Amino acid sequence: MNQSAFLKVEGLAKSYAPTNPQIPNVFEGVDFEINKGEFVAIIGHSGCGKSTILNILAGLEEATEGYVIMNGREVKGASLDRGVVFQSHALMPWMSALKNVEFGVRSRWPDKTAEQVREHAMGYLDMVGLSKAAHKKPFELSGGMKQRVGIARAFAIQPQMLLLDEPFGALDALTRGTIQEELLQIVQATGQTVFMITHDVDEAILLADRVLLMSQGPRACIAETVPVTLPRTRTRASMHHDPDFYPLRNHLVDFLVNRASQPKVAAVQTINANVVNF
Ligand SMILES: Nc1ncnc2c1ncn2[C@@H]1O[C@H](COP(=O)(O)OP(=O)(O)OP(=O)(O)O)[C@@H](O)[C@H]1O
Ligand SMILES: [Mg+2]
Repeated sequence: MNQSAFLKVEGLAKSYAPTNPQIPNVFEGVDFEINKGEFVAIIGHSGCGKSTILNILAGLEEATEGYVIMNGREVKGASLDRGVVFQSHALMPWMSALKNVEFGVRSRWPDKTAEQVREHAMGYLDMVGLSKAAHKKPFELSGGMKQRVGIARAFAIQPQMLLLDEPFGALDALTRGTIQEELLQIVQATGQTVFMITHDVDEAILLADRVLLMSQGPRACIAETVPVTLPRTRTRASMHHDPDFYPLRNHLVDFLVNRASQPKVAAVQTINANVVNF
């Protein structure tokens, strides 16, 4: 194993019934690492354990076996070093969009003045196209808008590692494309380290340096690690012209449809829906 990896995951397993040997682990033997500045996406069928892994990386859930080391330290509990965008938004309902973003910014930089905190938070709301909705509360926002506040909130604390759980799943295709491009630019400019769950193979190819393919549970594991060989200058509009694009895309889709083991009909439909969306 690479001793200098920024994040190391070793022998991770999760059981929701550890005292009952009749119930198998959700996943087990999950090993992978992420280098500083690397963007790693994970794809797998619904229920295989992707969000559970992400929550363990975030320090929000405990593994049954194995450990996670980030920057030389074992991950225990949540930290502002890791910014999380959840699968369904987790905003504080009594706070405006702006206040939700400001909350993290203030904790991260307690010495910033109220004005500096506001300006910083507004910059990130602007990035996700929500400066006009800054003073609205979550109940006044659409699902996609709430998700964008969650994205602004995670990015605003400039964490050492971003953990994104299907961050664009609730967005319409146009907004999704815009924010994917934004994310790409931010990641390229800042060298941000990212771990992202997605069901969308095109999104994974656009954004990631490597894609982890997770088999179906129970006892799911990382079945394959696939490097994305397209040059880093890829864009949504141009990447399908690259000769590596379709072979790579076919490989990922084929895994999900044929090799992840007995895919459920519902999950295959999700993949097909994403193909149409692109
Ligand atoms: N608190 C819990 N108690 C018991 N089982 C749980 C709990 N949370 C998750 N699970 C089970 O663990 C498995 C993995 O769940 P997880 O949410 O990690 O899947 P996922 O890969 O993120 O799926 P999706 O793609 O649908 O979001 C599922 O089978 C789920 O039913
Ligand atoms: Mg999930």
